[in-house]
Amino acid sequence: MHLAFAPRSILYALVLVVATYLLYVTFVIDHSLESLPHSAPPSQQEIFPEVSSEEWACRADQVKQGFKHAYHSYEKYAAPYDELLPITHGKINNFNGWGVTAFDSLDTMLIMDLQHEFERALGIVARANFSVSSDRAFVPYFETVIRYLGGLLGAYALSHEKLLLDRADELAMILDGVFDSASGLPFYGVNPASGKPEGSELGILAEMATLQLEYTYLAKLTGKKDYFNHANNVMRTLYSADLHETGGMLPVIWNLTSGTPVDTHLSVGSQADSTHEYLLKQYLLTGQTDKASLEMYVQATTFIITHLLFISPKRHLLYVTDTIGSTYKEAGTSMHTFEHLSCFLPGLLALGAHLLPLDNLASLGVDILNLRGRDGAYGHASKGYRQLASWNLKKVHLWAAEGLAQTCYLTYADQASGLGADEMVFGKWSGSKAQAKDHSYDESYSWIRAMETWRQSGSRGPPPGVGDKAPIVHTEAEAMSGWTKRDYVMKKWSYLLRPETVESLFILWRVTGDVKWRHRGWKIFEAIERETKTPSGYGSPRSVGRSPAPLDDNMPSYFLAETLKYLYLLFNDEELIPLDRWVFNTEAHPFPVFEWTEHEKTMFNL
Ligand SMILES: *[C@@H]1O[C@H](CO)[C@@H](O)[C@H](O)[C@H]1NC(C)=O
Ligand SMILES: *[C@@H]1O[C@H](CO)[C@@H](O)[C@H](O)[C@H]1NC(C)=O
Repeated sequence: MHLAFAPRSILYALVLVVATYLLYVTFVIDHSLESLPHSAPPSQQEIFPEVSSEEWACRADQVKQGFKHAYHSYEKYAAPYDELLPITHGKINNFNGWGVTAFDSLDTMLIMDLQHEFERALGIVARANFSVSSDRAFVPYFETVIRYLGGLLGAYALSHEKLLLDRADELAMILDGVFDSASGLPFYGVNPASGKPEGSELGILAEMATLQLEYTYLAKLTGKKDYFNHANNVMRTLYSADLHETGGMLPVIWNLTSGTPVDTHLSVGSQADSTHEYLLKQYLLTGQTDKASLEMYVQATTFIITHLLFISPKRHLLYVTDTIGSTYKEAGTSMHTFEHLSCFLPGLLALGAHLLPLDNLASLGVDILNLRGRDGAYGHASKGYRQLASWNLKKVHLWAAEGLAQTCYLTYADQASGLGADEMVFGKWSGSKAQAKDHSYDESYSWIRAMETWRQSGSRGPPPGVGDKAPIVHTEAEAMSGWTKRDYVMKKWSYLLRPETVESLFILWRVTGDVKWRHRGWKIFEAIERETKTPSGYGSPRSVGRSPAPLDDNMPSYFLAETLKYLYLLFNDEELIPLDRWVFNTEAHPFPVFEWTEHEKTMFNL
């Protein structure tokens, strides 16, 4: 019997090998070289093994152990300095010298139930002297607000430890000099001893408009009108700005004297990111009552979706980029750069799609064609508003979120190290002319236009840029040799232990319930453990194209505040911080959603 079956098994095995090879040739080799324009690549789902609840709990625990490794190393070698140097066992003061890693880690400890670490960190909080900065004469306002003030407030919200609120109030008073501009928009920094502001008359969007959540919550806790006014003034200034030239989008550079925008650089990347984020989050934090924030969020996302989202030529990866030189008549020039920092956007879009009635904005008195009562003033962008008005906005936001999150994940899965690069350039030709012949076209195209084509075709497949795609792994040498099948080339090879991608994976998991987002997060955590862990902490890979990745000697505090926190929440079955009751600041510090009391409304003239 055995003998009789043997030849047949060999035959089966041969058939299987040949079939696999043919599939490989058809989908992997052929497809990537001969893709036809506008025909979507076949959906290629990565296969993830079934994982039990117990196993997810175990994974969450591994993240907690990782946090302990990082924080204990910080305590041993660096506290109360700001950050640990994880390769040389050194320490550095780079954010005022008050112990930023301890402040930034407080609420992560509470979420992970690390009470002893929390008690010890409170000692550092109690001893920090906010009147002196040890690394320069002034303190940078934006970083101080999101890391220190946000850290204190998030930990206060979870513990009600009075020291934390007292110190938050004290810190905010020391920072108050930044608001000494004619418009009330904050300067870059302040001398903590003299209270004198520091910085140019021109401000950067993210740096001058990322304080609304912190100051609004602080006003709620302390009852102090000044804090409320600072946040409110920023929102009113943004709301009343003339955005005629930039199609309703908040540009990057602003004049702090006049409180008006002065350039046409439009971005969701490093200089703008958290301002767009705070438009939605301010609306959510204040119990969905501030219609102006909501309108600005709809306005910003409409511009982003119709002008900043592109599809790459071969793999049809959805990405977001910057434009410059927008005028009233014409959209600006697209840069086609894609930053790791922009990977917060899929999470934000998913959060908005989850919590807002985007498919029925009229129920909130919001008309996308008449935002702020002045449609028509937006020139070329008006077309974008009309375009989106004919779609179910909830679906469009969620599709954009899924497509972008998939791309953010692939920028990790495509690398030899399994970690994501800091910046890439998409859709640009970088190879030789001879190679170009294999390649029918090389330009990215507008997502919204591709969506229109998809709708008209009546296709039942997923919208362009949405749906799973297989990674294409290149080493540094392969990627550097010019021609890349991946549709992008690297601009910055480093992975700075940043959180944005896992943040979005966490929100996508919570919003869609699709377990693939969790599995992808686990792959990223495995890569972090494999590539970045040192005997005393976690280092920052200089190049994601190599494994083992060469490491730089730094461990930013946001790795403990954000990256490890979001991973922990992603793997935890329990919804520790429900998205409808908490709002994360841009450094992942959670503040509770609230409504103003009648007394507060009177006090703050609401
Ligand atoms: C903080 O530092 C300043 C300047 O060195 C000093 O005058 C002050 O006494 C210090 N405060 C505390 C509480 O140690
Ligand atoms: C900022 O605006 C003020 C008031 O309009 C103006 O006098 C000043 O020149 C502007 N500054 C810059 C750098 O553009």
